[in-house]
This record gives sequence, C-alpha cells and structure tokens, in this order.
Amino acid sequence: MVTGCSRFGENAVPETLGWLRGTVAAPHRRVGNLPAETTSLVGRRGELARVRRLCARYRLVTLTGVGGVGKSRLALRAAAQLRAQFPDGVWLVQLSALQHGALLGHAIAGALGLADPTLRPMGEVLTDYLAGRRLLLVLDTCEHLVEECAETAEMLLEAAVGLRILATSRQSLDVPGERVLVVGPLPVQNRRPPWAGVMTRWRCFAIARPRWSPVLR
Ligand SMILES: Nc1ncnc2c1ncn2[C@@H]1O[C@H](COP(=O)(O)OP(=O)(O)O)[C@@H](O)[C@H]1O
Ligand SMILES: [Mg+2]
Repeated sequence: MVTGCSRFGENAVPETLGWLRGTVAAPHRRVGNLPAETTSLVGRRGELARVRRLCARYRLVTLTGVGGVGKSRLALRAAAQLRAQFPDGVWLVQLSALQHGALLGHAIAGALGLADPTLRPMGEVLTDYLAGRRLLLVLDTCEHLVEECAETAEMLLEAAVGLRILATSRQSLDVPGERVLVVGPLPVQNRRPPWAGVMTRWRCFAIARPRWSPVLR
C-alpha cells in the first residue's frame, strides 16, 4: 500500500485527503512541495521560456553550469510556472545533503510523502506510485550522485509515462533522451549613467582648450 502525503511546504495537498477536499478545493489547487521564493528573481526570462519549452517536449531536462550560477533558482521558478501542466504535482527532491546514492529512492519517496509499510524495494514502490500519474520531479543538485540519479531517472521514466524530470547538476546525467540546457552567468549590468558620455565629451573639450579646464573638469 502506498499513500501520498507531503510533509513539506504550505502548498502541499495530502493525497489521502484529496478526495475529501474534492468538493471544496479551488479548481487550480497547487499540488506539490515547491518552497515559496523569498527573494525576487533577477532576469532569466529567456532561460525560463527555454526550460518551459524543453519540459513540454522532453521528459528529462537537465540544467547544467558551474556552482552558484543559478541552476536551482531557475529550475524552481520554471517548475512553479509549469505547475498547471501537472495535475499530480511538482515535487522538489533536494539532494545536496544526501550523501549515499543508495538512499536516493528514499529521498524521492520522502519528498513525495510516500509511506510504504511493506518490505518492497523502493524502486518498485516509486514506479508503482508514479505509474498513471502526471507529475514533475525536480531533482536538485545531482552532481555528487550523477550515476545513481541517471539510473533512477531512466528507470522511473521508463515505468511512468506521465512522469517528467527537471534536474540540476554541474554535469549532465547522460541518459538517452536527456536534453541539457547550459546555464550561464547573468549579464553584468552596465552601470554607466546616461550622462557619462556627455561628461567625457566635455572633458575632451577642456583638455583641448586649457583656458576652460577649471570650469569644466
Ligand atoms: N536570477 C537570480 N536572481 C536572484 N538571485 C539568484 C538568481 N540566480 C541565483 N540566485 C541566487 O544565487 C545563489 C546561488 O544560486 P543557485 O541557484 O543556488 O546556484 P546553483 O544551483 O547553480 O549552484 C542563491 O542564493 C540564489 O538565490
Ligand atoms: Mg543548486
């Protein structure tokens, strides 16, 4: 027996209570465990559109790039924008603190709020639960467990046709069908004030006519 009930986030809707809430729930209820953003997102409009497009077409999309470039932030915002397309939710699996690849299945089950009291292998529990559901998993920070993430992603995607995965990792998972988007740094803002050009021209004028320089410099 597998039940789904998130332990995380205010937006989560425990699945076991879903049918009870059916009559009163808002039509666009948010299912999942995405955390609310606490700071505003700078830029990334183009990248967000690209991630949404890729996720609409492909079942495994990986955002790669150097540490701190903004992969997780971009993935979380894109996932939030994709919520309407996944009636069974958008679920974040934060892997940065996970040290053992053997526990990956448990981490995913934990994020989904699955409780399985039997001794079945975790892979079976997950595929059983995900089969027939339309759901987005965000596997965040895969780089230290790339092999395990690749293996698990492949297995879950094969077993559950309605599943899509958005991963972030410093390197790609290298799974057949994966699409990679390399996240680059944000462009540096040009902080030159609009009147800077005028000042430069005045300075040139002052150098050419020293008599004016005390006034213009
Ligand atoms: N576009 C952005 N706007 C505002 N803050 C950002 C943006 N991208 C990244 N950050 C912030 O920079 C830090 C590193 O970003 P993060 O997404 O964790 O990087 P990565 O996942 O590539 O290591 C975080 O504190 C994050 O909130
Ligand atoms: Mg990250």
